[in-house]
Amino acid sequence: MASLPNIGRIGLIGDPVAHSLSPAFQQAAFDVCGIPIRYELLHTPSGELDERMRQLRGGGFSGANVTVPHKEFFFDAVDERSAVAERAGAVNTIICDSGRLYGENTDVFGFAESLRAKDFPFDTSLAIILGAGGAARGVVVALLESDIKRVIVANRTPSRAERLASDLDDPRISICGINESVAIASEACLLINATSIGWNDDQLPIDPIIFSSVDASTLAYDLTYRKTNFLQQAEQHGLQTMDGLAMLVHQGARSFELWTAQPAPVQIMLDAAVTARDSRG
Ligand code: ATR
Repeated sequence: MASLPNIGRIGLIGDPVAHSLSPAFQQAAFDVCGIPIRYELLHTPSGELDERMRQLRGGGFSGANVTVPHKEFFFDAVDERSAVAERAGAVNTIICDSGRLYGENTDVFGFAESLRAKDFPFDTSLAIILGAGGAARGVVVALLESDIKRVIVANRTPSRAERLASDLDDPRISICGINESVAIASEACLLINATSIGWNDDQLPIDPIIFSSVDASTLAYDLTYRKTNFLQQAEQHGLQTMDGLAMLVHQGARSFELWTAQPAPVQIMLDAAVTARDSRG
């Protein structure tokens, strides 16, 4: 009989974590690959981060995912980081190796991969990103790595967009106020809501006039995985839309491959994520 892979504990570090879809699709992947572990919810309030670090270094773990609000903490805390994590300024995946911690950012990969399936023409496209927080930064890094032609970061607080542009230091990035982006919307192929609005309420991050200002072929992308007001309005204006579920699964699939050194069963993970989301209504 083939021996089972020897993989230690793996789970999701964050606060809160109970709402996460990661256990559903990561467990589906471990089960179908015959890896006998349980993907754990590692609820970690800020005061318990040092203890969590000790556990990760202690030898029983193969790795972890990291979610809000600890991606910056682990960016600083790991022993080594990938070049992509460096650029994104955040770590969402940890690989444990003999007491040392390696930090990666698979959100960047997940975002790019979600668009690759759509055969998105990065090198001729202008993308408008609403928001300039951690999520927006990951998206901008993914777009730059995918050879996007031009990126406009539109944020409510201009100084935050300025900081993002200055940190990433790439001539393809420009910034503007959130509603100023309406004026150049007709040139955009991609309009991304990377603000935190959609997670909690049905406000719009921008004047809805943007939906009639963009070209009909524009893809409206919301990083959340619910049907937000942003996506509904985009759909009503005849735009293509995409939510963040595929990005979530692709980031998780990449993490799975880093922990297990085997290909992730991506379709099984996608199906499990859709089922888990739908079962929550
Ligand atoms: P995340 O890690 O999800 O990116 P974050 O770093 O707190 O979270 O960033 C939240 C983003 O959503 C910011 O760009 C924020 O804009 P400000 O920099 O002006 O705060 C944006 N955001 C949150 N609430 C918003 C609102 N009501 N209207 C417009 N933008 C909003």
